[in-house]
Amino acid sequence: MGQAYAVTAEFYDLLQAAEQLGVTERLLDRWLGQPEVGVLDVGAGTGLATARLAARCAVLVHAVEPAAGMRAVLLSRLAGQPDLLARVRVHARGVQELGLRRVADFGWCLNTMAGLAADERAGALAALAGALVPGARLVVQRPPSEAADARRDLPSWRLGGDLYTGEVTTVRTGPRGVRWRFDYRVSRDGALVREASEVFDGHLASEPEFDAELAAAGFAVVAADTPDIVVARRS
Ligand SMILES: C[S@@+](CC[C@H](N)C(=O)[O-])C[C@H]1O[C@@H](n2cnc3c(N)ncnc32)[C@H](O)[C@@H]1O
Repeated sequence: MGQAYAVTAEFYDLLQAAEQLGVTERLLDRWLGQPEVGVLDVGAGTGLATARLAARCAVLVHAVEPAAGMRAVLLSRLAGQPDLLARVRVHARGVQELGLRRVADFGWCLNTMAGLAADERAGALAALAGALVPGARLVVQRPPSEAADARRDLPSWRLGGDLYTGEVTTVRTGPRGVRWRFDYRVSRDGALVREASEVFDGHLASEPEFDAELAAAGFAVVAADTPDIVVARRS
């Protein structure tokens, strides 16, 4: 896991933060409430949501992020901000490996389940359930139920005249599998300066399958939101 996101970490915020933050703020406005025990951010990535959670909550935020490259950006985001530093604890392993017990009454896990195979999802959901107190709310993004071969552009940005672009190519790898290839390019005056790529394997699960996995881990689905968001209550 240490090398995962080694390429993507550099480009993630530049190309995807605006869209991610829009979704994050909307979902937090609707579902966060006022946590009183703690907050769990599983698959914290570059900390886009972590920082918003810490700014909105008075309790400790547990940011779980195993990939060193993503964690580096997360830590840079917190650096120099005493208010946030005091309220974010960073866990540098997968949630299944942490053994966190009843540390939070709000759980957040976006854009992460898609990368886990069924057995890993079961382990992650069980770990999430263990880390949350009874009655806690979980906001989790489903794995995709379908994926067709496709190609799409990420938003592009200019930096000092250079153009930063990203492209995602989706390929089905089997009945339950999908592969996303991210190609990042930097160009100047129309000529390529550099490019880099990273490939991620993903795993599909139908909505009934994922709901059953949530139930098996001790969560009751209470609501839905977009994009592919499930709101569940820890029993
Ligand atoms: C696509 S990123 C999403 C980051 C962030 N949630 C967002 O929406 O911007 C998925 C993150 O989940 C992390 N991750 C993967 N497996 C994990 C696990 N078992 N426990 C916690 N985080 C995990 C990856 O390292 C990666 O940073």
